[in-house]
Amino acid sequence: MTVFTDKNIILGVCGGIAAYKSAELVRLLVKQGANVQVIMTAAAQDFIAPMTFQALSGNPVRSELFDHNAEAGMGHIELARWADMILIAPATANTIAKLSQGIADNLLTTVCLASAAPLMIAPAMNQQMWLSDVNQENIQRFKNRPLVSLAGPAQGEQACGDNGPGRMEEAQTIVQECAQLLQDMLQQQIEKQVLSGLLDGQRLLITAGPTIEDIDPVRYITNRSSGKMGFAIAEAALEAGAEVVLVSGPVALSAPEKVVCYEVRSALQMHEAVFKQLDNVDIFIATAAVADYRVEDIATQKIKKTRDSFTLQLIKNPDILADVSALADKPFTVGFAAETSELEKYAVDKLQRKNLDMIAANQVGIDTDGQPKGFDVDSNELRLFFKTPEDFIKQKKIPEMSKQQLARELIREIARQYNK
Ligand code: C5P
Repeated sequence: MTVFTDKNIILGVCGGIAAYKSAELVRLLVKQGANVQVIMTAAAQDFIAPMTFQALSGNPVRSELFDHNAEAGMGHIELARWADMILIAPATANTIAKLSQGIADNLLTTVCLASAAPLMIAPAMNQQMWLSDVNQENIQRFKNRPLVSLAGPAQGEQACGDNGPGRMEEAQTIVQECAQLLQDMLQQQIEKQVLSGLLDGQRLLITAGPTIEDIDPVRYITNRSSGKMGFAIAEAALEAGAEVVLVSGPVALSAPEKVVCYEVRSALQMHEAVFKQLDNVDIFIATAAVADYRVEDIATQKIKKTRDSFTLQLIKNPDILADVSALADKPFTVGFAAETSELEKYAVDKLQRKNLDMIAANQVGIDTDGQPKGFDVDSNELRLFFKTPEDFIKQKKIPEMSKQQLARELIREIARQYNK
């Protein structure tokens, strides 16, 4: 058994000199147990004959969108649904441009648009074309989409005599990348299944990101926070079946479609938005890095540097989490503690002082190798402290993993404690 066993793979072949390498791709995929159907663009057929792919895949090769005979066997929408993965190799600048804009003017681009399967692109083109602004914009737009991955391109000598980036990756490497993509998808499915139903029908309110406290129209005080952890928790809570409301400070992230997201700027606005949304909330998770203080008098005009020194008068912001926890009918409350030292001491103190049900503590700052920890990075580790019904404090460590996986582990533990 391999990760390809019984997987349905569409191989899209575009018109490029590297098309000959795709024959080897079909051979390797079929050898590892995949069912392969090849779609060729019209230009691809100038480089390699369909018969080669038909012989290697054991399936007829498709190229026409409106081929009545082929459509009678398996229509293009059926073909799109059949695929567990679509691999385009070689992918030309033209096809990448079309896909990045949602153009569907041939069978391959139409099937891609109509399919929910992950897409692996192995670009192949002249180095100047690869490096061109417009191609790079298309690639960036494309790469940011979920379920889209890139294999290559490799650097080196090109058929046109140039040297640079744009060569199609070797077949063996592309197959390895495809295996990794399928493996990741499988892992995600397993993780989603583990969460499924754990928080069915529960309403979750989550704060995320930093708050911004204005000094004057051009300056402000803020905290370091990307919002990634809070957004990942929102996603994991959705997977667990919860209804999720997010109140977020300014971040460069977009909330999952099914999450209701309120965007705020300051701590006061976040406090107000949270209290407006608190009705029927079962679980409140405060991941936001709320500014502890705000400027007492925000200047309406830009402050001029006329004085050698000057003092900003700051006043304390309300503690959103502590205020929610102080409610008579408080939801299950989870706080975060980002600390640069004495993690356990400060975390347990916050758990007690803010009357929380659970606190997730993580070390932040710069580690011994000079790398940032906790902030602006995609992975992290957490230590959870929570109260047992007998009021004992228990702890659990979640080792370093991606913030996405960490969020899932956290939601599992919250559900376990909440459902007790
Ligand atoms: O007291 P400290 O800021 O270290 O506590 C961190 C926890 O409290 C986090 O969960 C944070 O979201 C929450 N918090 C809050 N409102 C504040 C300050 C912190 O909700 N004003």
